[in-house]
Amino acid sequence: MTDDRHALRSVKVGIVGAGRVGATFAYTLLLRGLVGEIVLVDLDRDRARGEAMDLAHAAPLSYPERIRAGTYDDLSGAGIVMIAAGASQKPGESRLDLSKRNTEIFRSIVPQVVKNAPQAILLVATNPVDLLSYVAWKLAGFPSQHIIGSGTVLDTARFRHLLAEHLGVDPRNIHGYIIGEHGDSEVAAWSRTAVAGIPLDEYCTRCGCGFSEDEKHGLFEKTKNAAYEIIAAKGATSYAVAAALGRIVEAILHNQRSILSVSTRVPESEGFGDLYLSLPAVLGSSGVERVLSLPLSKEEHEALKRSASVLREQIEALHL
Ligand SMILES: NC(=O)c1ccc[n+]([C@@H]2O[C@H](COP(=O)([O-])OP(=O)(O)OC[C@H]3O[C@@H](n4cnc5c(N)ncnc54)[C@H](O)[C@@H]3O)[C@@H](O)[C@H]2O)c1
Repeated sequence: MTDDRHALRSVKVGIVGAGRVGATFAYTLLLRGLVGEIVLVDLDRDRARGEAMDLAHAAPLSYPERIRAGTYDDLSGAGIVMIAAGASQKPGESRLDLSKRNTEIFRSIVPQVVKNAPQAILLVATNPVDLLSYVAWKLAGFPSQHIIGSGTVLDTARFRHLLAEHLGVDPRNIHGYIIGEHGDSEVAAWSRTAVAGIPLDEYCTRCGCGFSEDEKHGLFEKTKNAAYEIIAAKGATSYAVAAALGRIVEAILHNQRSILSVSTRVPESEGFGDLYLSLPAVLGSSGVERVLSLPLSKEEHEALKRSASVLREQIEALHL
């Protein structure tokens, strides 16, 4: 094992919120052999203990990672702490009320994480993820490149999956991003979408595979509404979000400098104000190393500005 591999294998990852997202993320890390140790922290200690036991029994069949339930003290030395703790929206509850409840939950979690794992990169999955990433940044007092939201990495995967199905090619050969809010105001950067480096419209012309504006609209709506559809069918989403979180962790731990649409504090030069939203960003061992300013069509840029103002309103409504 090289020094680098050794360092990776010894990395401790903390997970706060061992619910469906947290436990599935732990399983993703385990099956990929990405880390050395996983600590699950949850208000519901029995749930964390049960998940840790179940996961640990898979270690002899995958990678010998240490998995255990613990307290905040056990996060000491963690390189990454992922937070997926939070309440879900109650029937009839507004988005703002949910934001307030989850902000209160973050007030009880983030200081404990900071105290015990001051060197960690914080990865936020709790919804609304852009807002909660901003809240985590405010509460932690860490440099913003160390507080990362899962953002639209998941939405981007859904977009590429649907495009791949439509075009009949491997989704890994499609470059394209969903940007802005992880939510209803998100934006598809169609003008920057390419297949094997060929701009999408040109690819379709060359291949003779039609892609009408109506079809594009339908595909984007399916991307945006996928979570609603899955939640209506099975109650929650877990696998793809866990894979997205695993991909982010891989990029950080292997210093891959991968470009992923994580939620991050956008540079002032974008003119969106002080907020977190998703733009393609370079991710490596020091977290978000650079946020890319994506050249967009006029309509896309207007839509991104609208998405940013939705997020600014959410932040202002919280009176942090
Ligand atoms: N960012 C994304 O792409 C994405 C995708 C799916 C779900 N989510 C979000 O992830 C979050 C978790 O979803 P889930 O399906 O795992 O929910 P879940 O209800 O299964 O799990 C939430 C867990 O948080 C724990 N918890 C609540 N308050 C806590 C506290 N103060 N301290 C420690 N633990 C606490 C609960 O006990 C529970 O185990 C939700 O906010 C959901 O909307 C985000």
